[in-house]
Amino acid sequence: MNVLLLGSGGREHALAWKLAQSAGMGRFYALPGNPGIGDLAELVEGIPLSAHDTLVRWCKANAIDLVVVGPEAPLVAGLVDRLSEAGIAAFGPTAAAARLEGSKLFTKELCRANGIPTAAFGRFTKAEDAWAYVTAEGAPIVIKADGLMAGKGVVVALSVEEAIEAIDQVFAGGGQEVLIEAFMEGEEASLFCLVDGETVVPFGSAQDHKRAFDGDLGPNTGGMGAYSPAPILTPELEQRAIAEIVVPTAKAMVAAGTPYRGILYAGLMLTADGPKLVEYNCRFGDPECQVLMPRFTGDLLETLAAVAHGRLKDISVTWSDSAAITIAYASRGYPGAHLKSTEIRGLEAAAAVDGVLIFHAGTKRLGAQLLSNGGRVLNVTAVAPTLKEARDQAYEAAGLIDWPDGFYRNDIGWRALG
Ligand code: GLY
Repeated sequence: MNVLLLGSGGREHALAWKLAQSAGMGRFYALPGNPGIGDLAELVEGIPLSAHDTLVRWCKANAIDLVVVGPEAPLVAGLVDRLSEAGIAAFGPTAAAARLEGSKLFTKELCRANGIPTAAFGRFTKAEDAWAYVTAEGAPIVIKADGLMAGKGVVVALSVEEAIEAIDQVFAGGGQEVLIEAFMEGEEASLFCLVDGETVVPFGSAQDHKRAFDGDLGPNTGGMGAYSPAPILTPELEQRAIAEIVVPTAKAMVAAGTPYRGILYAGLMLTADGPKLVEYNCRFGDPECQVLMPRFTGDLLETLAAVAHGRLKDISVTWSDSAAITIAYASRGYPGAHLKSTEIRGLEAAAAVDGVLIFHAGTKRLGAQLLSNGGRVLNVTAVAPTLKEARDQAYEAAGLIDWPDGFYRNDIGWRALG
């Protein structure tokens, strides 16, 4: 099978690493990819992911059998619809199904209509109605803008004043409607499921670390590290989340004539009343994918192709009992302003540590030099029989990387390990 992988981050490097091991891989391309992916696949340059017609033409000219879409934006923008109209198979949902990530309001209404456990909510098109609601409900309370906000559309307001400020920001930023949710107490975990119509197959769990600094301090980021499995998501809780949240969602999407096909990433709050949905994403998590791929023991290409062709029920997925952890090595200053193009050395020594895999997230090559090229730059990942061993190996490897302009958190895995 000839494959085109779309995206350029650590998530896509982890997917490329696993896809490259598949027995059925023919020609393997990535667009735009990164230097790590470039060691595994032929990099394609010069086509923006938003140029759907050009992408379709390129796929036809290169006899692509499967397109694997990494990030959410092309999914929400309808790339899979465009590919399938042209007869090209793709792993990822259509635009209508990707609304599960693209529109928080769509997902909340779907939950309400189908009795799916989630935080109580209100939606408002007028700021003064939203102010009245938060004043009546009190804080803490969660204010969300609709649409893809690159992780920036959510404010957990600790006071009514903060909530009113967040509401004003949504409308000042051009938002037409604000979503206000009850604050949920509990611990968060991520559950991944392959979904093909009404067929739902669990595909691993993880927990990530959103804040920039140790002790969960500092600004929110795309994720400073993750581990899998998430011990807090016990088999009983996982089964409950699948039965009460993911399966009813898959059925509702089929009933609406917009079946979901792809990976469905459920952000869950494990409350005293059981798992509740925080949000859906229509793609693998980043950096969660970097800890799922080393634990998946099946053939990734065969698995993703089965989903794309509506054959998920015919295959089985297998996992190792190992644990995996990944540490995001980020540019100093991230998620704010940071230096670019600073030199990174020592990757060979780090990658030689037992069980360690280094996934590139934001790097570029200049001759023989490896340079930073983004906020999150490397994912230092380790897989081992226990999470503690994986953590120790990942930190040993991170310590061997010579990059004075980078930083990482020293406490990845603390929830599971103490
Ligand atoms: N790590 C969070 C996300 O991928 O959305």
